[in-house]
Amino acid sequence: MAVSIMGAVFGLFVGLVVAGSVSSTKFEELFQPSWAADHHVHEGDVLKLKLDYYSGAGFASKSKYMFGKVTLQIKLVEGDSAGTVTAFYMSSDGPKHNEFDFEFLGNTTGEPYLVQTNVYVNGVGNREQRNSLWFDPTKDFHNYSIRWSPRQVLFLVDDTPIRVHTNLERRGISFPKDQPMGVYSSIWNADDWATQGGRVKTDWSHAPFIASYRGFEISACECPVNVAAAENARRCTDDGSRRYWSDEPTMSVLSVHQSHQLMWVRAKHLIYDYCTDTARFPVTPAECVHHRH
Ligand SMILES: *[C@@H]1O[C@H](CO)[C@@H](O)[C@H](O)[C@H]1NC(C)=O
Ligand SMILES: *[C@@H]1O[C@H](CO)[C@@H](O)[C@H](O)[C@H]1NC(C)=O
Repeated sequence: MAVSIMGAVFGLFVGLVVAGSVSSTKFEELFQPSWAADHHVHEGDVLKLKLDYYSGAGFASKSKYMFGKVTLQIKLVEGDSAGTVTAFYMSSDGPKHNEFDFEFLGNTTGEPYLVQTNVYVNGVGNREQRNSLWFDPTKDFHNYSIRWSPRQVLFLVDDTPIRVHTNLERRGISFPKDQPMGVYSSIWNADDWATQGGRVKTDWSHAPFIASYRGFEISACECPVNVAAAENARRCTDDGSRRYWSDEPTMSVLSVHQSHQLMWVRAKHLIYDYCTDTARFPVTPAECVHHRH
């Protein structure tokens, strides 16, 4: 009796300690520069990434995670951002990697940014959607979030869902849920495709192009590098942490309100959806047939 109580208490303790939620407004606690540290500028709580003719810049989380919610507050490049892409994504490693992408496609002064989202499963992407926004993302900071549970991947802008990628494994469709992912962001030159199909090139006389960040927030099951992959997967998907991280109603299904928001976004702000691009995909991708939008 005493032994089992001790066991339960110890188990609870370990569960709370290892299933680490980390949330911070301080960049250094969660992230580190992964590309061109000399193009990072810290001003109080704000981090600025600079793109110029010589280099872009990027950062990566210090840890990997399985399931949870990641939010960054981003203020995109002001003025002429044509040719530039600012990305915020989660990704695992290796040739069969999974990835959830936000890519913010710049534009000429006064023309709208577009948000491209994509999902890679087992190394294969080609699941692009593009949305316009209902605000100017270069004027203020806005919250961009990825929520990942065993049931779905949700992309949110200021808590409004703009895309849901549902787990359809029961229909035989793979879902990314077995590889820990890092959190990344970067800004780089992509003027071969990003703006108006690549017709508008980056005007380097307007460099540096600056994306600003603050409010770094990760609330997820942490997968320490010194713990074996199988052990991390077990820990982050076992009953305890699944209840804790992923099976909260808000994490696993859309509320009625969120469903309505998503319908509104798709009606008013969806510019492109790979699911309906029959020229590119003569056979509708399997997950599009079954996805409810
Ligand atoms: C972003 O999230 C923070 C923290 O929850 C909140 O204070 C802020 O108002 C949000 N910003 C927008 C534009 O919704
Ligand atoms: C840039 O602006 C043009 C003109 O308004 C628009 O057609 C295009 O979708 C915008 N975004 C990108 C990324 O090209």
